[in-house]
Amino acid sequence: MLRRASLIHGLAVAVWAAALLLPAVARADGPRERLSLDAGWLFHHGEVPAPAVKGHGASYHQAKAGGVVGAGGAEFDDSSWRRLDLPHDWAIEQAFDRQENASQGYRARGIGWYRRYLQLPESDRGRHIELQFDGVATHSTVWVNGIVVNRNWSGYNGRAIDITPYLRYGDEVNSIAVRVDAEAQEGWWYEGAGIYRHAWLVKRDTLHIATDGLYANPVQRGGRWTLPVEVQVDNTGEAGRAAVVALQVTGPDGAVVAQGETRVRVAALDSATARLTLDIRQPELWSPRSPRLYRVRAVLRQPGAGPLREIDATELHTGFRTARFDAERGFFLNGEPLKLQGVCIHQDHAGVGVAVPTAIWEFRLRRLQDMGVNAVRFAHNAVAPEVMDLADRLGLLVMDENRNFSSSPEAMAQLAWLVRRDRNRPSVILWSLFNEEPLQGSWQGREMARRMAAEIKRLDPSRPVTAGMHDGLFADRNASEVLDVVGVNYQVHAYDRYHREHPGRPMFSSEDTSAYMTRGAWRSDRQAQVLGSHDDEPSSWGQTHRDAWRHIAERPFMAGGFVWSGFDYHGEPTPFEWPSASTFFGALDLCGFPKAAFYIRQAQWVKDRTVVKILPHWNWSGSEGQPVKVMVATNAPRVRLLLNGQTIVEQAADRDGIVSVDLPYALGRLEAVALQGARELARDTVETSGVPARLVLTADRAVLAGDGRDAVPVTVSAVDAQGRAVPTANLKVRFETTGAGRLIGVGNGDPNSHEPSKAPERSLFNGLAQAILQTERDGQGPLRLRATADGLASAELVLEVRTARVPSVPAAEVVSRVGGWRISPPQAARPDPNQVLAENDMNSWGWGEPPIRQSAESTETWRAYRTSLRLRADRNDGQGRLRFQQIAGQAEVWVDGVKIGEKTSPEPAPLSLPLAQGSGWRTMTVLVRAQPGEPSGLIGRVSIERGAGKAAP
Ligand code: GAL
Repeated sequence: MLRRASLIHGLAVAVWAAALLLPAVARADGPRERLSLDAGWLFHHGEVPAPAVKGHGASYHQAKAGGVVGAGGAEFDDSSWRRLDLPHDWAIEQAFDRQENASQGYRARGIGWYRRYLQLPESDRGRHIELQFDGVATHSTVWVNGIVVNRNWSGYNGRAIDITPYLRYGDEVNSIAVRVDAEAQEGWWYEGAGIYRHAWLVKRDTLHIATDGLYANPVQRGGRWTLPVEVQVDNTGEAGRAAVVALQVTGPDGAVVAQGETRVRVAALDSATARLTLDIRQPELWSPRSPRLYRVRAVLRQPGAGPLREIDATELHTGFRTARFDAERGFFLNGEPLKLQGVCIHQDHAGVGVAVPTAIWEFRLRRLQDMGVNAVRFAHNAVAPEVMDLADRLGLLVMDENRNFSSSPEAMAQLAWLVRRDRNRPSVILWSLFNEEPLQGSWQGREMARRMAAEIKRLDPSRPVTAGMHDGLFADRNASEVLDVVGVNYQVHAYDRYHREHPGRPMFSSEDTSAYMTRGAWRSDRQAQVLGSHDDEPSSWGQTHRDAWRHIAERPFMAGGFVWSGFDYHGEPTPFEWPSASTFFGALDLCGFPKAAFYIRQAQWVKDRTVVKILPHWNWSGSEGQPVKVMVATNAPRVRLLLNGQTIVEQAADRDGIVSVDLPYALGRLEAVALQGARELARDTVETSGVPARLVLTADRAVLAGDGRDAVPVTVSAVDAQGRAVPTANLKVRFETTGAGRLIGVGNGDPNSHEPSKAPERSLFNGLAQAILQTERDGQGPLRLRATADGLASAELVLEVRTARVPSVPAAEVVSRVGGWRISPPQAARPDPNQVLAENDMNSWGWGEPPIRQSAESTETWRAYRTSLRLRADRNDGQGRLRFQQIAGQAEVWVDGVKIGEKTSPEPAPLSLPLAQGSGWRTMTVLVRAQPGEPSGLIGRVSIERGAGKAAP
């Protein structure tokens, strides 16, 4: 049972029973393991210059797989690095700096490095192991055990890297290193920096369903629904194998609605696709009002008799809906006309930058739905997969946008990745190639777009291709010619002309509005870089919220539009620069607090309930008797306004749903009554409040999952002694958390604020601030947030954290592995431990990595093993130990010409020796003498360990 949170000061907290744990919407796995790799990374902000490589020996080594020098290497001293969990955005941690880029929010991005250690049980040997990053901003390089395994030049695409060949098992430790270059920019907005989406380790059979290899996109023909399914099966095993591919489809209620089987045979190191079409009788349709999802499960099974063995399995969800764009009548979903009431949004949020927890995304998308939004354009790039899952689950239509406009192999691979990931999703109604590309009106732009569109069609013939064009529409040769649906950014004057000249081509507004507002500010003050909220501050290229929608609403051929923008975002502080550091465009601010535009859009868009909202607050002390511009946003026909109980005016709403009156200010209570004829439909009230007396904390939910990921936004506000909100309060609030969670960010929606995002305090801005709490991993029990402010009664909020777990790979203790051994030929006499091996001689001694086992030698029983070693700072305290897991044969160990120990017995046995403090590289030579006829060598791991205990890094 859910327990209601303790409510202090009578604050209202919504208990959100149903959504306690976000269902794993996209996939649930069978015998495969999909493990989170978010916890336990080490981070360094700034470049870690690799030491200069000089001389033949060093040059030769660094050129070899695994030989990288510097922070990408397997053995790098990261003992001073900061430990943190992903997702992580280091840019949001930086102070504002006028020298930095306004577009990126005046925060330093730069270079950063991440490292992570992990162990894999011996039982994983022989499985296919994939490392997945959902998004790293911006350019990045990945090494596993010092081998470069991937490079990626975009902050918006995920990647799946087969790291099987590079791994070690058992008690060996593997290292992952990631260099992130966020000097590189892909946008003109805040892009964050770092591994800001989730990381995963996926373990599967070598015969397995490829990542994003299950494709199930319903088709309706002649009133009949089918589900054509394709399953891409990869085989990284040693031999060709066959498998049964079994499919099962379950409906929204969990009942099986279709199943089938087929077979596939895949040669070693090859790939094959199994295809099967299932009939689905009268499926429940997906729509924004009723987002019904079906699950498709694909299982690979061992063919033949005997007990069924599952080899691999994966799941996805899909939905049954038809979608089409009509050149005269706009968009149709399931045969019904539906005007797209869309917003464009970027992917950052107050306090957390681009590392946005899924629960915060859900909060954001629900806010948009509350505004009447039915479509989202994730501008101008792919969003995290969990956000797309939310769009499917919540019922939002998506314009799915590609970032880089190019038909180069690399850009095409990013585009293909996007389509393969999202082509099963009922939410996706458009693929977008680009946004406002200067080449859009040229032959080159057309050719690039044509190739890109063809690549999309190859992977998904069912959805139209579009682009956001802001010019070039009438050029001789232009990209719109190869689009199925033409998206127009801002050019309202082009709507009619383009439609007239291209009557067969469907159109919509891919971007419009760009009107400015500061949340809670009602008078523009350009000096102070504050913009009022009466919807009278359009940009020079945009329109007011009312004008923009009118242009679309009045034209049946316009399928709808996407407002720039749903939320404010960091960066792009147009029309200002410093000190403004985030935008003024949002209908909601950075925290998701509604601005006036939110209610103006509600009046335009919401149909299923009455909207009535008085737009300014009623705290105008000092302005008594002077006119205050009052706007009431409503979807009702008429509004009556009452001041202190007296009717002031009753007026029909204008065509934009606004009642506008200049009202002489008198303190008290202002009420707006929405009317249909004489019938009251709803009312809204604003009331003059006194000075702030106490704080109020209001959580979006009361119960959280203790998985280290779940998060909740908490609204911080101040009320007067009578409990009335004080919309003008700007006082500083301090926070303290105790229990099963922590504060991960703060914000207040003020684009001019330079207060830090990561701090235990924040000022209210026009009455509001936000604190974002996140649960601890393995958290359970109460999570308390206490807020205090000078001279006010404090507030406390208690949330309940319940046990929940995301299966994950534990971070291994750092083990310095001693590798890179040279091995002398066998010899009859004891070798000189200090003999010199010429730096340019790569051949007279051999090469090896422990375990090194030499077969029995008859008379030549001696060998020398040589390598170099260096102590990490956290081992260099005189307590560090050199540990040979197993040496077979008698042995002497020499470091820099000094014998530090020996092993007298010839039997295989461990050897552990203290290592003196010292910096720099040391040369180690191990002389091993075999028993005649017996194998010998360094037959186990060689490592440097901490002397006292096994502390985590
Ligand atoms: C558009 C652009 C958006 C944003 C907007 C601001 O031209 O596509 O990314 O910059 O202008 O008005």
